[in-house]
Amino acid sequence: MNPPSSPPPPRCVLVTGAASGIGQAVAQAFHESGDRVIGWDLHADAGQAFPIHAVDIRDPAAVHAVAAQLPPLDLLVNCAGIARRGHAASLAAEDWRAVIDTNLSGTFYCCQAAFPALKASGAGLIINVASFVAHRSGPGRASYVASKAGVVALTEVLALDFAEHGVRAISVSPGYTRTAMVERALQAGRLDEQRLLARIPARRLAEPSEIGRAIRTLAEPALGYANGCDFVIDGGIMANGVE
Ligand SMILES: NC(=O)c1ccc[n+]([C@@H]2O[C@H](COP(=O)([O-])OP(=O)(O)OC[C@H]3O[C@@H](n4cnc5c(N)ncnc54)[C@H](O)[C@@H]3O)[C@@H](O)[C@H]2O)c1
Repeated sequence: MNPPSSPPPPRCVLVTGAASGIGQAVAQAFHESGDRVIGWDLHADAGQAFPIHAVDIRDPAAVHAVAAQLPPLDLLVNCAGIARRGHAASLAAEDWRAVIDTNLSGTFYCCQAAFPALKASGAGLIINVASFVAHRSGPGRASYVASKAGVVALTEVLALDFAEHGVRAISVSPGYTRTAMVERALQAGRLDEQRLLARIPARRLAEPSEIGRAIRTLAEPALGYANGCDFVIDGGIMANGVE
């Protein structure tokens, strides 16, 4: 009989957007696995099971300053993000910039700033949260869709640039997930739940906890050969192209 295997050593995991929704669920999933979780979000929060530090990811100087204090990192999960709607003919430049600055530029600043800490661990992994809309667009979402397609493309380049340093980068494209972001859109009438459910073969939205656990699974050693690719976890909505 084989002796019982010892549990894997705890990893050090940095999660952006850790105060809410998918980011919070990711942080919780790793915390439950016994890993050391460091959270970043717009506001500090000492009331969670893991520390959340105030870092505005749109500010490269602030991101680099905080990242310089990081211990060797096994994992960076970029979840911080925002969404704004607007017809492409009239979308305000401010709304375009807010989304691109957060979702795309902010993700880049975090990857760049955390790179030395990821390299220091010997086998760092970046998981960038994109969205299925990176692959299937929709009207009125110019900035959001462009930012998420950018995150998928950026992740490919990071995989290439960082590979020789033992750091991998993958992205995840969730489908509709019941978070504050989606609840706000449902309540404001920007999303219609019944129409959504009719389009999603799973006939339900994802729960943040299942996306959090799925992302934890992507960090398993069994997926150690995955690099520069995107994992779609969308309840089948992307497969559903024909009315
Ligand atoms: N909810 C969905 O259906 C869905 C689907 C696909 C992808 N996503 C993506 O998942 C990620 C998380 O979304 P969510 O639904 O959990 O949203 P959420 O609004 O619940 O959480 C987003 C978090 O990011 C933080 N954040 C925003 N701007 C920031 C900044 N400049 N600096 C630091 N933190 C900042 C917010 O404070 C918040 O805690 C986003 O990138 C989103 O685009 C969401």
